[in-house]
Amino acid sequence: MIKFISGTDSFYLSTDNSSYVIKILKDDMLCHRYYGQKISAEETELPYLCGRKSNSSGEFLDEENTCFVSKENTPFEYPVFGDGDLRNPAMITENRFGQRTSRLIYKSHRITKGKKSLSPLPSFDVGTEDVDTLEIILSDSVSGYEVSLFYSVFEKEDAITRRAEIRNTSDTDIKILSAQSMSVDFEPRDFELITLNGAWARERYIERRPITAGSLAIESRRGATGHQGNPFAALVDKNTTEDSGISYGFALVYSGNYKAAAEVDQYGSLRFQIGINPFNFDWTLAPGETFVTPEAISVFSAEGLNGMSRRFHNMCRKHLGKSAASLKRPLVINSWEAMYFDINDRAVEQFVNNCKGLDIDTFVLDDGWFGVRDDDSTSLGDWFVHKTKFPDGLKNVVRVCRENGMNFGLWFEPEMISPKSELFKAHPDWCIHVENKKPLESRSQLVLDMTRGEIIDFVYDSVAAILDEYDISYVKWDMNRNITDIGSAALPAEKQDEFYHRYILGVYELMHRLTEAFPHVLFEGCAGGGGRFDFGILYYMPQIWTSDDTDAIERLKIQYGTSLVYPTSAMTAHVSACPNHQTRRTVPFKTRGDVAQVCNFGYELDVAKLSDDEKAMIKEQTALHRKLEDLIATGDFYRIDSPFETEFCSWELVSADKKRAFAVFATQKVTANRGGYYLKLKGLDPEKIYRINGKLKLHGDTLMNYGLPAADNPTDFSTVTFELEEE
Ligand code: GLA
Repeated sequence: MIKFISGTDSFYLSTDNSSYVIKILKDDMLCHRYYGQKISAEETELPYLCGRKSNSSGEFLDEENTCFVSKENTPFEYPVFGDGDLRNPAMITENRFGQRTSRLIYKSHRITKGKKSLSPLPSFDVGTEDVDTLEIILSDSVSGYEVSLFYSVFEKEDAITRRAEIRNTSDTDIKILSAQSMSVDFEPRDFELITLNGAWARERYIERRPITAGSLAIESRRGATGHQGNPFAALVDKNTTEDSGISYGFALVYSGNYKAAAEVDQYGSLRFQIGINPFNFDWTLAPGETFVTPEAISVFSAEGLNGMSRRFHNMCRKHLGKSAASLKRPLVINSWEAMYFDINDRAVEQFVNNCKGLDIDTFVLDDGWFGVRDDDSTSLGDWFVHKTKFPDGLKNVVRVCRENGMNFGLWFEPEMISPKSELFKAHPDWCIHVENKKPLESRSQLVLDMTRGEIIDFVYDSVAAILDEYDISYVKWDMNRNITDIGSAALPAEKQDEFYHRYILGVYELMHRLTEAFPHVLFEGCAGGGGRFDFGILYYMPQIWTSDDTDAIERLKIQYGTSLVYPTSAMTAHVSACPNHQTRRTVPFKTRGDVAQVCNFGYELDVAKLSDDEKAMIKEQTALHRKLEDLIATGDFYRIDSPFETEFCSWELVSADKKRAFAVFATQKVTANRGGYYLKLKGLDPEKIYRINGKLKLHGDTLMNYGLPAADNPTDFSTVTFELEEE
């Protein structure tokens, strides 16, 4: 619900469990008043809430509520530079005199049903009538441009999506040096910050730290969101646990350079902002032009981190582009770790034939099928079939898949160009580069300048030609390096700092065109594993290869951390061969299957090298996965034991009607002479009787409070699973 309450000149936004209040001061400045647990009696309480003139440290408004005693501690809704607020501004602009001071003043507002699409910029749903949107229009009294702040309220999910639009209504150019998607001020409070950090092969580890005076930020300067951090942050109370306490979760629907920053000022007040990283960014806005920031989402939970995650998961699965579309997620077998570049018509035919009877839906031919690519040093950009490896094209591969009742999927890395390629010979200037410097190669490859329309057209045509020619139902879209040598031959000097954002807009345009033209194809995101795991990609591609690290024990942390924001239906997880190729660890086949089961499941190994027992286990695993598909698509996910804090790791999916559940309990490392351990399930109906693994019958309250024996005689890397069905 969104209301304008004229008596107090305030906006009241509310979801099922949260409220958000903004006030227009007498001098038309926009002031933030409240964000938190729901305050229901808005008509009577808002005068009280909006009347407050001080925070705990001192007054910021005078008696008349008109002018400021101190802007230094006023909670502004969208703070700017140069007007007395000395904390992080949400926006910095520069006018034709090179001056950066602004003053934003309330002009008007609109409350409408539904929500506008920002396409090709991804955003949460679009079109639904259940959503209300507030647009507050502000004008800058110094340089004469307008800023619209948008708030869309998703009541059931306790979510508010936000963004800003800057329109140049003046008659000269202005430059935007920073435009955050959102800013929110909290009064002094002992918050802690949770972020997801890591590196290649150990993405999205959970970090939780106190926030003290000064600034704390996570950011990317890589041209993609990156393995090292995620465009997400949560502010939580010190006592917040997985299941109790307050958490505010913030994330960006964006896949490029981002920054999420918390700043604590001299009075202990906290300002949180998330948006495009202002580093190496500016944007020239000519008269009449508009700049749209990426969308940010905030969710509020008084039910701990699990509550926060479930809200994010629901937003993703119900309201985010392709993630909300009911595309069937295939159970795949991928050639990469099984064959690497050692692929050809005969080897692939044999590989696919070996999958007969295992109930695998799709064979995915990974890297190495195109150009003259025999290792990773050539051919990116040459999206035509490798003639020596596949003399008849991919026809035979598609036929063999069909004969075995399987579909066919293919790997691309559309944004790249190898210096050793036909494409590079024809267009040496299509890579991102600057004059007088040989661009830096990484994995022997360069990046295409996706800010240029003709390059987007070329990549579209070459990928579309393959998708048109062959019966392909699945595409793995990879992106394997950071972006350096920033510069575009197509941009004038004053627009070079627009490059990073224009790059990702170009990528979104390409994704938009391909996903529209091939709606039956399931596109899977990948960036050296999980290097671009964000809501921006999930708008176009409902699932992402979670990490190049396929070791089941390492995956416990990666999947546990990723689940803080993203549903398991967004994660792809495969059973791979042991010793594992990333860690050289050997983990039981059963454990490898159990850890991957709650995600989009599949294999990344050569079936011919498996024992008969392992092959039999594949049949059991694929059969179990079929039973779990619904739960993964729509169930509620609960984290139970944290692999970051205990020697165990456990999680559970519960169906919306609470009639079914599936829990996985893993032991990372056994401690000698440890007492037994009972896994206390979550989210069940206390009164329902559940049958566990087809045997034992117990009530939900017993299962949640007393639990199930999970670690009676565990061994390192062992797992136990529990399938629950209402009796
Ligand atoms: C990346 C991906 C892998 C695989 C290789 C192929 O590293 O993450 O899954 O596709 O590229 O080169």
